[in-house]
Amino acid sequence: MKTVIVTGAARGIGLATTKQFLDQGWRVVMVDRDEPALEQAALGLVGVDPVVCDVSQPDQVAQMAAHVMATSESVDALVNNAGVADFGPIAETDFARWRTVMETNLDGVFLTSQALREGLCAARGAIVNIASISGLRASTLRVAYGTSKAAVKHLTQQQAAELGEFGVRANCVCPGPVATKLAMAVHSPAIIAAYHDAIPLNRYGTEDEIASMITFLCSEKASYVTGQIIAVDGGFESTGIGLPDLR
Ligand SMILES: NC(=O)c1ccc[n+]([C@@H]2O[C@H](COP(=O)([O-])OP(=O)(O)OC[C@H]3O[C@@H](n4cnc5c(N)ncnc54)[C@H](O)[C@@H]3O)[C@@H](O)[C@H]2O)c1
Repeated sequence: MKTVIVTGAARGIGLATTKQFLDQGWRVVMVDRDEPALEQAALGLVGVDPVVCDVSQPDQVAQMAAHVMATSESVDALVNNAGVADFGPIAETDFARWRTVMETNLDGVFLTSQALREGLCAARGAIVNIASISGLRASTLRVAYGTSKAAVKHLTQQQAAELGEFGVRANCVCPGPVATKLAMAVHSPAIIAAYHDAIPLNRYGTEDEIASMITFLCSEKASYVTGQIIAVDGGFESTGIGLPDLR
């Protein structure tokens, strides 16, 4: 049975991704730092191993990786989905706020991928990193979040370049807005309305629509796809000059 590690699996996109992998016959190591939410999410799911771990903490990541290596037949895929959002202007983004975003969104992706590298190489596995449309286009209030996600895109390409010779594929998914707890904490009613207006498909995406791309990229169907940055965003990124008067 194939094993995938999904970080940030206790809710939102990570939980939807976990369920799609289970439906497709994978075993899922569900990683999250929110222990009660993780326990609740894992209840009733067959084929999961919930592991409490803060992906921004090197010692916790090392422990998680050792556990995975000791308990899994193979490490076939890693989905770096754990993320935090904190929107604010440059003037108010002090170093502590900047680091809080960077340590999960960027350091976490680096640390887990590095810690599981041997297992992924042995299995000729796949890495999928979750960035965001905020890493594709800049905007106000996203100096930390947007920069962390832009860095995740490049980190993905570094991984693809270096790990390709071991048969490991690395790809990056950039979701558009999805109405999860993370998004609802930072999307005001005005932002929600503006998104609907700016997205060609005129709506938010669903957790499952993002999960479908993630599971596809981890599957044999994507066996020649690596180093790619793929927006799953209802067409938002493709619309170039997004002026309302030009639509
Ligand atoms: N929802 C959106 O609109 C949207 C858009 C673009 C990108 N994304 C990205 O998708 C990913 C999933 O977001 P979501 O909307 O499902 O969020 P969410 O808040 O619903 O879920 C995120 C999960 O990650 C966990 N987590 C956060 N930091 C962690 C850490 N350091 N270690 C371990 N677990 C941690 C949380 O406990 C939570 O269970 C994130 O990387 C986010 O940036 C989301």
